[in-house]
Amino acid sequence: MATRDNDTTVNQTKKKASLSLFPLLSLLCFASIFLCLSLSNKASISQQPHPASFQQFNPNDPNARFSSGSCDYSHGTWIHDPTYVSHRYDATCKEIFKGWNCALNNKSNAGDITKWRWMPKGCQLPPFDPVLFLETYRDTNIGFVGDSLNRNMFVSLFCTLRRASSEVKKWRPVGADRGFTFLHYNLTIAYHRTNLLARYGRWSANANGGELESLAYKEGYRVDVDIPEGTWAEAPSFHNILIFNTGHWWWAPSKFDPVKSPMLFFEKGLPIIPPIPPDAGLDMVLQHMLHFVERKQRAGAINFFRTQSPRHFEGGDWDHGGFCQRLLPLLPEQVEEFFSLGNNATNVEARQVNQHLHRALEGSGFHILDITHMSEFRADAHPSTAGGKKHDDCMHWCLPGITDTWNDLLIMHLNNLKGRN
Ligand SMILES: *[C@@H]1O[C@H](CO)[C@@H](O)[C@H](O)[C@H]1NC(C)=O
Ligand SMILES: *[C@@H]1O[C@H](CO)[C@@H](O)[C@H](O)[C@H]1NC(C)=O
Ligand SMILES: *[C@@H]1O[C@H](CO)[C@@H](O)[C@H](O)[C@H]1NC(C)=O
Repeated sequence: MATRDNDTTVNQTKKKASLSLFPLLSLLCFASIFLCLSLSNKASISQQPHPASFQQFNPNDPNARFSSGSCDYSHGTWIHDPTYVSHRYDATCKEIFKGWNCALNNKSNAGDITKWRWMPKGCQLPPFDPVLFLETYRDTNIGFVGDSLNRNMFVSLFCTLRRASSEVKKWRPVGADRGFTFLHYNLTIAYHRTNLLARYGRWSANANGGELESLAYKEGYRVDVDIPEGTWAEAPSFHNILIFNTGHWWWAPSKFDPVKSPMLFFEKGLPIIPPIPPDAGLDMVLQHMLHFVERKQRAGAINFFRTQSPRHFEGGDWDHGGFCQRLLPLLPEQVEEFFSLGNNATNVEARQVNQHLHRALEGSGFHILDITHMSEFRADAHPSTAGGKKHDDCMHWCLPGITDTWNDLLIMHLNNLKGRN
């Protein structure tokens, strides 16, 4: 859109300059240099192929839909297509959490966010067809289990399906925070809120003493590594398809302060001694929760674990004045600056969490929904100051926005699994 505006400026400038208004000629020169710079900037982000190939792509072509064998959807390039108009949903979808509705909150680039399309290396990831999806997944329950970033993804799916089918019953399956059934298709989607997957609550020292007390612990959070949080404990016996995530709260010292309110891990009802740090606790929780799901799941269930959603704080973390005011996605080299483990930058936890996830998921029956790398580019797609908080929101995503692409990826995976059976 920025390029469009510059185009008009240049054309108008040309007309006026031809009236031999000399000073405007220099303005024209300046404008065209600016235009060239902004074009070359875009070109380096969106190297080939031409965006037109999106329009030519037929999402109903089964060969295209089921040909993911050799394709890695998590690697690729964001392509800018200023002419692209998304029909998925818009800011009027009531389920969009207020702070994520960037168009309504007047974020300056809100309209441009969905004009970037993910082009995986060597294949296509078209927007999924909501009607086809509803028909294919009749009589199915789909649960999102995790923190607010999974809710962000759930809302995107709801709004897309709601556009295609408006007969919706709002209700909550056991433990769910939000839930809807698309009545015409008997398809239910729900969001089960849980920060750590495992159950946790406040802990304070017992006057009669104990093992933690003898180590001088006074306050903290008790995290039971082998007990799922009640909000989703029933989800595996209800849903046919589950999408899990956890990660953000494991590196959240504002709540789980390592000194004032540390995480204290318990197993089989007893404190783990010596106490272990959060990253070791995460490994234990993942082991226990994956086994729990596999024990409790319905016949034929499909489980996904979504990788960590990257944050884009610059100039400090969220509680230290960090901001995210970019209007364009990052370049590949900028992505490495932000996220390389060796750089130890503000947002480094994204790839750290993934190391834990990949280790735990190896050899399990879970499918990995790898959205991290594609999302790392999108520093432009957070609510930022339009989030309506005291600090910039560089963690959640504007809706419509990039969790739409996560759902395209999820549904592509699902269709591939269905095609294989
Ligand atoms: C966004 O802009 C509209 C139109 O100018 C205005 O009515 C509305 O109050 C603004 N919203 C916010 C959250 O600033
Ligand atoms: C709706 O789908 C569920 C499976 O999720 C099934 O148990 C139930 O019988 C279906 N209801 C109808 C009316 O077909
Ligand atoms: C990385 O940075 C954090 C916070 O800036 C710091 O606490 C930590 O010690 C650093 N880690 C390494 C390995 O340098």
